[in-house]
Amino acid sequence: MSTHTTSWSDTEVRAAFPALSLRDHDQARVYADAPGGTQVAARALTRMHASMVNHCANDGGAFRTSQLTDAALQEAHRIAAVFLGAEPDEVVFGLNTTTQLFHFSRMIARDWKAGDEIVLSRMDHDANIAPWLIAAQERGIQVRWLEFDVNTFQYRYDTLSSLINANTRFVACNHASNFLGTINDVKRIIDAAKAVGALSMVDAVQSVAHIAIDVKALGCDLLSTSPYKYFGPHAGLLYVKRELADRLVPLKVRPAADMMPYKHSPGTPSFEAQCATQGAIEHMAWLGERFGGCPVGSLRSQILAGYAAASAHELTLTQRFLSGVANLNNITLYGISDLDDASRRVPTFSLRLRGLDSRVIAKEFAEHNIFVWDGSFYAYEIAGVLGVRDSGGVVRIGFAHYNTLAEVDQIVALLADMSTRA
Ligand SMILES: Cc1ncc(COP(=O)(O)O)c(C=O)c1O
Repeated sequence: MSTHTTSWSDTEVRAAFPALSLRDHDQARVYADAPGGTQVAARALTRMHASMVNHCANDGGAFRTSQLTDAALQEAHRIAAVFLGAEPDEVVFGLNTTTQLFHFSRMIARDWKAGDEIVLSRMDHDANIAPWLIAAQERGIQVRWLEFDVNTFQYRYDTLSSLINANTRFVACNHASNFLGTINDVKRIIDAAKAVGALSMVDAVQSVAHIAIDVKALGCDLLSTSPYKYFGPHAGLLYVKRELADRLVPLKVRPAADMMPYKHSPGTPSFEAQCATQGAIEHMAWLGERFGGCPVGSLRSQILAGYAAASAHELTLTQRFLSGVANLNNITLYGISDLDDASRRVPTFSLRLRGLDSRVIAKEFAEHNIFVWDGSFYAYEIAGVLGVRDSGGVVRIGFAHYNTLAEVDQIVALLADMSTRA
């Protein structure tokens, strides 16, 4: 079979996202808001549409449409498991990551007792802090914090050995920051947790659009993703290691099945979101086939090749952006800015322009139909550490593999113009 690699085509990739061709008042849209949620791949939309037309019925029935739902859900779990490097009975769909982590924190914290400790990270979105913090408060146990260095935007790995000890029951950390863009060495943190028998939880919500996940290689107990951040629907998709899923006493209604994933996924889920997530994953696989030189066959190989192709393109976007803003005056970029370290970050850039309010900047971008975020994005601790929490936060410009160098140039040109006014 041929392993011919086709070079990246913006046109072809963008055609795989119906929203990218939309215009407003004859002006193209520039979606630089990916960290808050990406655009949705056509494959995801097709799967969602098909599920709602062909088998819009609850699962577990004796009739045709219900049985089609059963089959579709089984397939969605199988594909999701391949995507994360897990087994199908280790993936749980839910409403979103926040809800899933509140749900799991209640089960996990049940046996925490006085003298126990947990470690939370200052670089996390609050979805991977508040649930554990509240649980720790309820159980009366101590919380220790893994800080990050405000100059390098890296975790203080040097403190791990003093933070994590025989009393540690649980360690939560972040894979890629939704504010700083840093890609973290979570394996190092997971290994430190494992060494003392503590559970580890990785928030991969931001990383999954950019980095292929292999939960078995990481060795974590829990890993969260939200498909709307990787070209799919609004939903949550959580990996739960089998040993942990088996051990937890489920928070479920009594008649519900006592098996994965149902026992950890209370109520009727969005079946269409599960199908659409499968479509989003198939989009990544398509990238692998089309631009990664991976023939159709092994889905996992295709997905990995898709990520390789997408991240090579994203690296060019990152380098173009970093070199574009490097010499601008009055800009503070909160994150890795060294071009040589560009592969150690995802293309999520938070910045401030001296003297200009972040909302005002975002509005000016919006006037050009360029969509960027402003605020702190629930990265509550990061914003606090950087001292921007109560002063409008930052402007966040984020790219995905469907963005183009021309879009980056357009954004940098606007920033250059604003920076002269700052
Ligand atoms: C890093 C990170 N973790 C968690 C979340 C929360 O995800 P959800 O909206 O699915 O609850 C977000 C959302 O922005 C995020 O960026």
